[in-house]
Amino acid sequence: MQPRTSLPSWKKLVTHAQDMKEQHMSELFTQNSQRFEQFSIKLAPFLLDYSKNLISNDTMSMLFDLAKECDVEQWREKMFSGQRINSTEDRAVLHTALRSRSSKPVMLDGKNVKEDVQRSLNHMKDFSEKVRQGHWKGYSGKRITDVVNIGVGGSNLGPQMVTEALKQYSDNSVNVHYVSNVDGTQIANVLRPLNPEKVLFIISSKTFTTTETMTNAKTAMKWLVSSSFDQSAIAKHFIAVSSNKKNATEFGIAPENIFELWDWVGGRFSLWSAIGLPIAIDLGFERFIELLEGADEIDQHFCETPLEQNAPVILALLSLWNCTFLGAQSQAILPYDQPLHMLSAYLQQAEMESNGKSVNWQGESIDYSTVPSIWGELGINGQHAFYQYLHQSNNIVPADFIGSVESVTPVQGHHQTLMANFFAQTQALMQGVDEQQVRAGLKAKGRTPEYIDKVAPHKVHKGNRPTNTILMKRISPRSIGSLIALYEHKIFTQGILLQICSFDQWGVELGKGLANNIEVELSENKISDNHDSSTKGLMTFFQESILKQS
Ligand code: F6P
Repeated sequence: MQPRTSLPSWKKLVTHAQDMKEQHMSELFTQNSQRFEQFSIKLAPFLLDYSKNLISNDTMSMLFDLAKECDVEQWREKMFSGQRINSTEDRAVLHTALRSRSSKPVMLDGKNVKEDVQRSLNHMKDFSEKVRQGHWKGYSGKRITDVVNIGVGGSNLGPQMVTEALKQYSDNSVNVHYVSNVDGTQIANVLRPLNPEKVLFIISSKTFTTTETMTNAKTAMKWLVSSSFDQSAIAKHFIAVSSNKKNATEFGIAPENIFELWDWVGGRFSLWSAIGLPIAIDLGFERFIELLEGADEIDQHFCETPLEQNAPVILALLSLWNCTFLGAQSQAILPYDQPLHMLSAYLQQAEMESNGKSVNWQGESIDYSTVPSIWGELGINGQHAFYQYLHQSNNIVPADFIGSVESVTPVQGHHQTLMANFFAQTQALMQGVDEQQVRAGLKAKGRTPEYIDKVAPHKVHKGNRPTNTILMKRISPRSIGSLIALYEHKIFTQGILLQICSFDQWGVELGKGLANNIEVELSENKISDNHDSSTKGLMTFFQESILKQS
């Protein structure tokens, strides 16, 4: 397979990047009054403005050529039609089938997976309604008031991020909590105020082997059994979502209370499956379906729209442009919507676990930079913390600004202030302010020439910092579904452009394996000589400190 770096469009982009580095975006805006119209897309769920990137018409046409030379459209077809594009694990990648609202079958190994999906959705509907309406009772006959989801990574971040994003849509008939960390502090804090008679645990683990989740699940079980003194209580208080029915059953969960999951759903793309059950319990099943519908809308846009107007494709191309060609190392996710406070944590896993790799599909090292590190925070909080760095450091950090026209919780005067900041920041990051302007401003304020000489260089903002703006109408189950699907397809496209297998995660295995061995050594108090001196020294200090305390 031809390396990406030898494609004609790739080579052109390398040269073109050198020219574009000499340009300033504010000049490009001055030269072209149509820039916003040319470089923005209006879709039903949101407006995407990408005009504040260091791009020209030539840049975009070279990037679209690259997408064509990389066969993005053919790969997209392969994914949606169930081909095994997760090559290192020999699996199909069909999270899109989980939210497809059409009647068109999706065939895998001679079977229509949508029949499985529908069966699971029926199970979710039935179960979530029973819990919400108080028909699912605990061991003492009381209704369930609290649901605790135990899971980590994709079995936590998606459902928790969506639960937080859609809090305003919850009728609070049941409180939903999340436990992901094996640090006992988290589960202890969550369980402390709860009444075991009224709690339902969802053990969410695709593999049902993840140490952190299994440890938390055992603690939850002990907590329940110690209060009820009765093993039979488990069936009423524990359910599982897993593709490993055997392990879940051995753990003590009744087979009828195990929700299905399949190997063609990657953990970080699984919130659309029964992994999303806490969302359905919190918001009601109809709202969960609206979430799926929002994602399906973007799936259709991704499949049917020419590359030149295709929002996920454009986001992927711009990420490649900013990082691989212009040299940015990280990307900020900056929501101006309080409900989206977990979005950057969610996208960290989605993007970095998918594409944070350094070999291509053939296992050969790649010599170009791949994805940036993803980080971020609510925009307003960030403004008073790290935006200084975004505006004036030597490192350029491309950023996605995400906001809404309407607030889900209108409080007089607040939304305008919030959005004024939203618009101001992307303008400031793009335009900057040069020394001449700074000096003129200080002079107009009556500052002395000495003061102006001293302070002016510190007040210069070079600008030319790329941003994308995603402006939704309002946060809703549907718009959140669309937003997540937008990023999922961006990630897929990035993987194709970079020749990276986006759907495995071998990089998390090494640490997991070592931790298992170290845990045995610590519990047997036998520290092996196989560790490097730092690791051995730390373990020894830890162990000796414990022994001294006891
Ligand atoms: O962190 C690695 C990982 O395998 C993720 O990909 C996954 O989402 C998470 O662990 C949880 O895995 P499981 O659902 O099997 O417990």
